[in-house]
Amino acid sequence: MSAPTSPRQVPPPSADDVRNLLRAVIDPELGANIVDLGMATDVAVSADGVVAIGVKLTIKGCPLRAQIKNDIESRLETHPGVSKVKIEWGEMTSDERSAVMTKARWNARENATDTAVPVTARVLAIASGKGGVGKSSVTANLAVALAAQGRTVGVLDADIWGFSMPRMLGMADRLAARKVEGFEKPKIIPNERRVGSGLLKVVSTGMLVDDEGTALMWRGLMLTKAVEQFLNDVHWGDLDFLLIDMPPGTGDVQMGLARMLPRTDLIIVTTPAVSAQKVAIRAADMAQRSFLRIAGVVENMSHFTCEHGSTYALFGEGGGAALAREIGAELLGQVPIENAVAHGSDNGEPVALAGQSAAAEVFRDIAKKIIGSTVPANDMAGCSARLLESVEVVLGKKPN
Ligand SMILES: Nc1ncnc2c1ncn2[C@@H]1O[C@H](COP(=O)(O)OP(=O)(O)OP(=O)(O)O)[C@@H](O)[C@H]1O
Ligand SMILES: [Mg+2]
Repeated sequence: MSAPTSPRQVPPPSADDVRNLLRAVIDPELGANIVDLGMATDVAVSADGVVAIGVKLTIKGCPLRAQIKNDIESRLETHPGVSKVKIEWGEMTSDERSAVMTKARWNARENATDTAVPVTARVLAIASGKGGVGKSSVTANLAVALAAQGRTVGVLDADIWGFSMPRMLGMADRLAARKVEGFEKPKIIPNERRVGSGLLKVVSTGMLVDDEGTALMWRGLMLTKAVEQFLNDVHWGDLDFLLIDMPPGTGDVQMGLARMLPRTDLIIVTTPAVSAQKVAIRAADMAQRSFLRIAGVVENMSHFTCEHGSTYALFGEGGGAALAREIGAELLGQVPIENAVAHGSDNGEPVALAGQSAAAEVFRDIAKKIIGSTVPANDMAGCSARLLESVEVVLGKKPN
C-alpha cells in the first residue's frame, strides 16, 4: 500500500504579492484601493504562511471596518500559500488623514467627467444644512458684489423646483439655445446682466418655465440630471467664478457636483442659533465625505439693529463662529437682518448692488475675501509654464 500523498506545499506569497492582492480592496468611501491610499501598512509574511498586515483607518470607529476586513480576508485567504490572515487595526494621524483626503480628491478629479465650465473658473456652491437660512440671498448678493469688482460671474440655480435666482437678480427672460461653433448640438445661452465693469451669466429652470408654480410639475425630474445639463449644455464662455445656489437639505446635488465638478468649494450658510449650527455641520460632513473643500462659513441673520441704534441678537449668538471653528474653516462674514436684504431680493436689485447698508458692506467684504483667496488664472498659467520649463530642463530639452 502506498503512503498517502501530502498536500502540495505552496510557498507563502511575498510581501509584494500581498500588496498586489490588497490593491483589489477598495475603500468605497474614498474610491481608491487601500494600498495606494496608504491605509495598508507593514505587511509581513511568516514561513508557515501567516500574513500580518497593519491597516490604518481614517477614524477608529470607521463604519466600513467590517466590510474592509471581509474584503481583505477573502482576497488573501484564496491564495493557496496563505494559512492565516491577521489584521492589526490602527488610526491615522490628522496629517495622514489630510494626505489621504488630498489623494482621494485627486482621484475623484482624475475620474471626473468634463463639463462646459472653464477650468480656470473658481466654483463655489452655496449650501446649508437646512432650508430658509439665506443661501439664495447670499448667492445673489455675492454674485453682484463679485461682478461689481469687474469679474465675470456665472450663477447656476441648482434649486430646480424652488428656484429664486430670476426674481432675486431681476433676470426672468426665457433662456435661448443656439448653435455654437465646435459643438454639434445647440447650447443653452445664459441670460446676461452687466454690473459695473463686470458681468452676470445666469441659468435657472425659472427661465424655462412660465411661473414658480409650473416648476412644481418638474418634481419627477431627476435633480442631478438637470444640474448636469446646466453644467454640460450651457455655453458658459469665459467665467471668473461660478456660484451655485444649492437646494435645501439634499445630498444628491452635492454628490453629483463632487462627481461632475470635484473642484467645487462650499460656502456654508448658517444662522447664529446653536441648533442651526448642529444642522449645518451635516452639510460640512457631507462635503468632507464627497471630498469637496469648504471655502468658509457665512452667518446670516446675525443680529438686528433698530432705527434707534440698539442691536438685538434675535436668533441667538455665536453659531457661525462655532461652526467655523468646528469644521476648521474661516468665518467669512456676519450678515445682519435688514429689510433692505429681503426687499432687494424681491425686486431683483440685491442690496449689495448699490445699497449703503451694513449688510451690503458685509457682502462686499466677503466678495473681496473670495477674490483675495483666489489664485488668478494668469498666475496659474505662469506656474504651469514654469513647471513645464523645469521638466524640459530635466529631460535635457532645454539648457539650465
Ligand atoms: N439678512 C437678511 N435680512 C432679512 N431678510 C433676509 C436675510 N437673509 C434672507 N432673508 C429673507 O429670508 C427668506 C429666506 O431667504 P433665502 O430664500 O435666501 O433662503 P434659502 O436658504 O435660499 O431658502 P431655501 O432653502 O428655501 O432655498 C427670504 O425671504 C429672504 O428675503
Ligand atoms: Mg434658496
